[in-house]
Amino acid sequence: MLSTLALIATGIILIYGLLHLLLYYTHDDREPPPVSTTFPFVGAMLGLMRKKSKYYIEIRNKYDLPIYTLRLPGTRLYVVNSVSLIASVQRQFKVLAFLPLEAKLSMGVCGSSETANEILNTNTNGDEGDWGYIMTFYKTIRAPLAPGSELDAMNRVMAQKVSASIDQIKGQQVVQLFEKFQEGIIILIVGLYPSILAKECIRARELMTEAFTQYFEDEGHNLGSGLVKSRFAHSTEHKIPLKDIARFEVGNTIGLLTNTAPSAFWMVYHLYSDPNVLEDCRQELSKVISSVTTTLKDGETTKVHTIDMSEVKGACPILLSTLQEVFRIHSIGISTRMVMEDHMLDNKYLLKKGNTVIIPGPVQHTSTSAWGSDASMIDHRRFLPKNKRHNPVAFRAFGGGTTLCPGRHFASTEILAFAAMLILRFDITPTGGQWVHLTSDKAALWETTPVPDNDIEVKISPRAGEDINAQRRILVSSSDKAMPLSAEDM
Ligand code: HEM
Repeated sequence: MLSTLALIATGIILIYGLLHLLLYYTHDDREPPPVSTTFPFVGAMLGLMRKKSKYYIEIRNKYDLPIYTLRLPGTRLYVVNSVSLIASVQRQFKVLAFLPLEAKLSMGVCGSSETANEILNTNTNGDEGDWGYIMTFYKTIRAPLAPGSELDAMNRVMAQKVSASIDQIKGQQVVQLFEKFQEGIIILIVGLYPSILAKECIRARELMTEAFTQYFEDEGHNLGSGLVKSRFAHSTEHKIPLKDIARFEVGNTIGLLTNTAPSAFWMVYHLYSDPNVLEDCRQELSKVISSVTTTLKDGETTKVHTIDMSEVKGACPILLSTLQEVFRIHSIGISTRMVMEDHMLDNKYLLKKGNTVIIPGPVQHTSTSAWGSDASMIDHRRFLPKNKRHNPVAFRAFGGGTTLCPGRHFASTEILAFAAMLILRFDITPTGGQWVHLTSDKAALWETTPVPDNDIEVKISPRAGEDINAQRRILVSSSDKAMPLSAEDM
């Protein structure tokens, strides 16, 4: 018995020593310094599985390195902490590329056909010039999402839908299919026996694909937004089969729904759980509401209150600052790039081909050098123009560089519209009496905006003094002004 234990102990010590030697001899001194974990290779993997993006914050706090290497079984993660290196990574968008990774992820998550995969995989990184499905895709969709007439048109439809949904506040609605799809996305990303481990997710994906196929067969997109028309035209130009176009739309729902809905939740949570924030934002909004009395057909008079979202975006800096602070506190996104060939980053750090560079957003958002000593506190006035003292590159909620989120203006307008309509009309109180602190530790590593770990039950009632018979109108007047949401908008 003793000798068996001694044998196991010797084996473990031997493996431990060998792994350390392997780490030492396979690490080039010019690479970003490796951070040591108790067990080489396995330690970092376990740390990431347990602590997710908090692991990167822990390492930043411990070693305070501008960039470092995390060794995982079979691969290296080069983790960027310094703001100036983020800019260097973003400049090298061909050598430190995102598009080949995106093509791979789309295929896994959307389950596209071989024909579509071949089209997706052609000239993925633009090595043969500025052409190909994926190379030109983002250029195509950036135009209808940039401030201007097409975005205004989308915002108008969205604002009416948001307003109608607030009019109907009554009960709970669950988007069951999407939830089922979302639950298995991580299995689809890693490709771990999806047909066995993500059965329900795939079933939901297929049902959503059928619905989108029907939508395109009925030519629904011809009546849709500039965005859906551009996406459809781009795919048909590249001869993507209809069913795959539908599949890519299912994939697109991830970016649309998994970020906007949780961000709107956190915005509402912070507005209502702090009376000062609520009061500041209500006061600001009250100044942009225009009210008139109108006579109805039956001779009765009623008030009509109108709010113009284009005016809100310009005239309600505290509301906008609150939203930006909500993004800073809650965003957990990680920008990822593939190293396409050996590269000396900033002429200082060797990044070896085949490995991955990551920029964890939470590392930037919790950095005291970027945000000051109160970085861990929520301050709804932090982003007010007169207070601005942070480096905009340190705000990572929408990523940055060539992969900067093109939907940021649409999503932010939607959340602002939802929050504005809600706080103007309703009071919300937790049924438990107190607003509790909500965690979001269950979120998966691929997510950008987490949902809270637990539900919170609230009572929604008309705001004190609210004239429930008054009519509400929401407008989006023409505007080509960009909200200052990312470094690129400044
Ligand atoms: C609050 C809502 C949203 C948040 C927080 C968000 C955040 C992000 C982030 C962090 C990225 C990755 C950027 C990078 O790695 O550098 C991204 C990419 C992207 N987002 Fe959003 N997003 C939101 C809403 C939307 C919406 C509504 C749309 C579409 C209408 C959209 C479309 C996209 C697309 C197409 C990309 C990929 C860009 C590329 O690869 O070049 N997003 N988003």
